[in-house]
Amino acid sequence: MNLTIIGNGNMAQALISGLLEASYSIEVVGRDLNKLELLKQKLPKIIIKELIDGYDISGKNIIFCVKPYNLVEVSKKLKGTAKTFYSVLAGTTIQNIKQNISSKFYARAMPNVAAKFGKSMTTLTGNQFIKEEAIDIFNCIGQTLWVETQNELDIATAVAGSGPAFLAYFADAIIKGGINAGLKKEDAIVLTNGLFDGFVPLLKSDEPENIIKKVMSPNGTTEAGYNYLEKNNIKKEISQTIQTAYNKALELAKS
Ligand SMILES: NC(=O)c1ccc[n+]([C@@H]2O[C@H](COP(=O)([O-])OP(=O)(O)OC[C@H]3O[C@@H](n4cnc5c(N)ncnc54)[C@H](OP(=O)(O)O)[C@@H]3O)[C@@H](O)[C@H]2O)c1
Repeated sequence: MNLTIIGNGNMAQALISGLLEASYSIEVVGRDLNKLELLKQKLPKIIIKELIDGYDISGKNIIFCVKPYNLVEVSKKLKGTAKTFYSVLAGTTIQNIKQNISSKFYARAMPNVAAKFGKSMTTLTGNQFIKEEAIDIFNCIGQTLWVETQNELDIATAVAGSGPAFLAYFADAIIKGGINAGLKKEDAIVLTNGLFDGFVPLLKSDEPENIIKKVMSPNGTTEAGYNYLEKNNIKKEISQTIQTAYNKALELAKS
């Protein structure tokens, strides 16, 4: 299958690596030929094209990978009606895209930055007719979840799209906590990396509440730390962080 990726930034590059491994034919369209040439040196199998005025998308399968605020500017350069149009733009509705770009079918995808390692948790929604195709494409960069509404995708954006940044915030706080208590920085980093590594299978095997119960013994060290979290309403604040990121997606959708 031929795919045309518009944009050549971080998300585009993560996607391209996974898609090439799965034997898709990839055309990358960007505004900066120097950047495209550099990308071609890294990934010789791709075809590169400059995004010129009147770039014809007729009959193509497009993955749109520019920033949300570039939608109008970039769409003015496109002509024709695509076959399928996959947008990874956060908080940008299909209705909004339709007003700017013509395609037979539309879907939205919300990957995350772990796509670089083939470990994205990607949420998808859109026209049911391209559901299977969408899942096949985005499974190349990790796991996928198809949801029925764009509202759910906007919530998923807060959870799994922004999620790596929120977990990195936690990781940073744990590292700093270790350093403040007297660990060497490099040791605090090794410990925290190992902690996250081991936590993945743990989380897949049990509910978070059970994990807490298993680690915590009465009057122990974990309980002391846990009580501090509870006293300071940290769970509520983290839930509110997700709500705030979701609110921003709604705000973007309106603008
Ligand atoms: N990064 C993430 O974790 C993540 C997660 C989920 C979704 N997304 C979505 O992915 C999209 C891309 O994000 P990113 O992180 O890949 O951003 P990025 O690295 O900044 O890439 C944006 C790309 O858009 C291109 N572009 C901007 N204006 C253009 C124009 N007028 N004409 C042609 N190309 C233009 C840029 O070209 P130049 O290289 O020439 O500047 C660049 O290649 C965003 O909509 C974001 O919401 C990102």
